[in-house]
Parts: sequence; C-alpha cells; structure tokens
Amino acid sequence: AQHAERQRILDTLRLSREQLLEVKRRMSEEMKRGLSKQTHEQTSVKMLPTFVRSTPDGTECGEFLALDLGGSSFRVLLVRLRKEKTHKVEMHQKIYSIPQDTMQGTGEELFDHIACCISDFLEYMGMRGASLPLGFTFSFPCHQKKLDEGILLRWTKGFKATDCVGKDVVTLLKEAVRRKQEFDLSFVAVVNDTVGTMMTCGHADPRCEVGLIVGTGTNACYMEEMHNVEMMEGNEGRMCVNVEWGAFGDNGELDEFCTEFDRTVDESSNNPGKQRYEKMISGMYLGEIVRNVLVDFTEKGLLFRGKMSERLKSWGIFETKFLSQIESDRLAMRQVRSILQHLGLTVTTCDDSVLVKEVCAVVARRAAQLCGAGLAAVVDKIRQNRNLNQLSVTVGVDGTLYKTHPHFSSIMQETLQDLAPQCDVTFLKSEDGSGKGAALITAVACRVQREGQ
Ligand code: BG6
Ligand code: GLC
Repeated sequence: AQHAERQRILDTLRLSREQLLEVKRRMSEEMKRGLSKQTHEQTSVKMLPTFVRSTPDGTECGEFLALDLGGSSFRVLLVRLRKEKTHKVEMHQKIYSIPQDTMQGTGEELFDHIACCISDFLEYMGMRGASLPLGFTFSFPCHQKKLDEGILLRWTKGFKATDCVGKDVVTLLKEAVRRKQEFDLSFVAVVNDTVGTMMTCGHADPRCEVGLIVGTGTNACYMEEMHNVEMMEGNEGRMCVNVEWGAFGDNGELDEFCTEFDRTVDESSNNPGKQRYEKMISGMYLGEIVRNVLVDFTEKGLLFRGKMSERLKSWGIFETKFLSQIESDRLAMRQVRSILQHLGLTVTTCDDSVLVKEVCAVVARRAAQLCGAGLAAVVDKIRQNRNLNQLSVTVGVDGTLYKTHPHFSSIMQETLQDLAPQCDVTFLKSEDGSGKGAALITAVACRVQREGQ
C-alpha cells in the first residue's frame, strides 16, 4: 500500500507525450504572440530583440573586456580576438564572488562592487587605467532599444538589488565606473547569456543559430526573421531574439501540469508567481522540488520512517551538484546513502536511498522533457520560417545542470526528437562560457561604429 501511495504521488510529476505536445504547442503560441505588435504586451514570453543581427564570421578582432553576471559565478574577462581564418582567441579570466548582501542590497552597491572587480582585474592583467570596450553578459530580461542599452525588466534567480528595475544597466555600470575614477569603458554592449553562448558556439560552428542555458536559470534565444519581429522597424535579414522562456507559465499556461510541490516552491521563492517554467526546470529550483516531495513523503510516513528532521526542512539543502551526484549511474546505493548523510539526512533503510534516488530521477526527467518541449517549439519555428521540410541546426548550450547531470541532456534530446521530428539538431556545449561571445558581439559593434564615423 505504501508503494502504491508513493507511486500515486510521483505520478503527478510524470508527463505524458500528449501533455508535452501541449506544452510545445502553447510555447509556440506564446512565442508568436510575443513577436506580434498587438499582443506582445500581454504575453508571458517576452521575445526581446537583442540587436545581434548575425552569427560570427571570423573577421571579428581586437581587445575587449567582458563581464559575465547572473550565472553561478561572476567573471571578468579579457578577450583578444585575432583576425581571419585562424579564429584565434586568447582569454584571461578571474572569478569574483558577490556577497549575498551585495546581491540583495542597493543597485549602487552592486554596481560599485562590479566596478571594483573590473579595476582589480585590470591591475591583475597589468593594464591599469586602460580604456576598453566591454561586452556585458547580463543574464536577466532587458528591454533593448539598441545594443549598448538594456532596461532591466525584472530580476530573476537570486538577485534583487534595489533601484535597478526600469533602469539602463549600462548607465548604472558607467556611473559606478565614473565614481571609481580609475579606468574607462569606451563602449558597453548588453548581451544575454543565451546570446553570448550562441555566439561563442557560432564561432566554431556557423550553423549555431540557437542558444540554450540550463543552469541556475533556464532560457533560450534564436535567429528570427526581421519581418516577424514586429516591434522592430525593417524587414530585411534576421535578428537574434531572447525568448525569456523562464517566464512561460506566468499567465497560467502551465497550471494544469503543476503539482502542489511546484506551487510550494513558487510561493516560498523571492519572486512568487514569476518564472514558473524556470522553476520546473533549472538548477536553482529542482533540488527544492525534490526536498518538498521528501518532506511530504516523510510527513505521510512513507520515508525516513516518518521521522522529520530540521535539516530536511531547510530551504536549499539540495544543490544541483547533489542532484547530479545522486543520479550518477556509477554510484552504488551505499554512496547515495553517504551523500544523504552528508546532507544531514539520516537514512535508516536501504529503501530510503532507493526512493530518494527515484524522486530525483522523476523530477529531473520532467525538467528535461519540459525543456525539450520548449526547444521543440523554437527549432520548429525556425524551420517553418524558412519553409523547410527538414531543418539542420546547431544549439549552443551552457549551464551547470546541463553539463553535470548524467541524464538531463539525453532525455531532453529524446523528447526534442520526438516532438520536432522534422528538425535535425546538434548540440554544442560551450566550453568558453558566454564571455567570448559577448566580446565577438562587441567587436562587430565597434567596427560598425568606426565605419560610420
Ligand atoms: C556560464 C556562462 O558558463 O553558464 C554564463 O558564461 C551563464 O553566462 C552560465 O549564465 C549558466 O550556468 P550556471 O549554472 O552558472 O547558472
Ligand atoms: C533567467 C534570466 C534569463 C537568463 C536565464 C539563464 O531566466 O531571466 O535572462 O538567460 O536565467 O541564465
């Protein structure tokens, strides 16, 4: 009876093929509405123009700074791009921490901290007082009217610095740099991490026209036909659109697929009601879903012999890396048990470990399938745009969950193939982060600016 009860609960976290097809259909619908002038203000999925009009062609060159803010680590980079065929790129980077207080303090504190890190980095590189163009990978939704401006629409993930929403992040950065009075930035391009990743991968594979992140948060971008981007003047060529699909579901599109666990995770987050799709998929939330299932099982006497621990009640104990470890095929149950013990959970029977592992598997599988369904909508849109019967495309991917989870990528690919059979999709992992892509974008912008003078 206990077994049946556990399975009944886990079944609420299992999605059928029909349900996944429905997710794909609704995502396609939202994407279309997000691009249209009449409806884009009401949609959950914002379809933000990025002012990136082409993938790299190998002629980008020069010396650039790059910032990478919004993933699990904050980085400052120096990227040197050499011209033509060699595609040579030299990169130096340093990782800086952002204290929790700074992430959730005032915007001025956050940007002062960033300016300090750039200054430290220049010193470290022996380039004090330099004045360079900068590619700013800022992994949050921004409204852009040009490449060197980005109005923050909302914070997502763990950030909530005050006085930033509604402001231009380039201005905030430049003001902080001015206060510091040590160096200068000649030009700042705002780049979403999905776009940076697509460009990084596009440097190696010109068929890379989609960027995907499955890390702390999740999101995608792709090359859209200009005539479909109704918020923008002009019909020629293409522009990369930042889907901001993490917000899919914010208008109720996912309600019927959500479980009580999803609702609890959403309600206890710092942005309730927002980023609902992201909360079912990405690394910042999957562990929390698992923890809530385990709490429920324990309360019902189905796990840990019904013995609740304070530890199990603490928010955030399951980090992405534990999810990935627990599901690793190489692990014996004994090792699963030791991971759980390390987390402070007292596992009494072998069945406990088996069950925890099953919960992790069910939650991760659903995440990978949902992500695959979203991606199916994106690649099918590209295929339909081009009136093709069959499309070949490469997706550039980054993010800790995607890279470290033993099954996420294969389940996602399986789902994608099933839901978008007319697309032949290759996945390319970004080994260089999105900083390199941000530098490539900055290089093109600087060249265009020079030519216009
Ligand atoms: C990094 C990219 O490699 O991946 C970042 O450079 C991106 O721009 C990040 O935000 C996403 O992964 P995570 O797991 O760090 O959130
Ligand atoms: C969040 C952000 C989005 C970013 C994604 C992945 O969804 O809103 O801009 O691309 O996380 O980091």
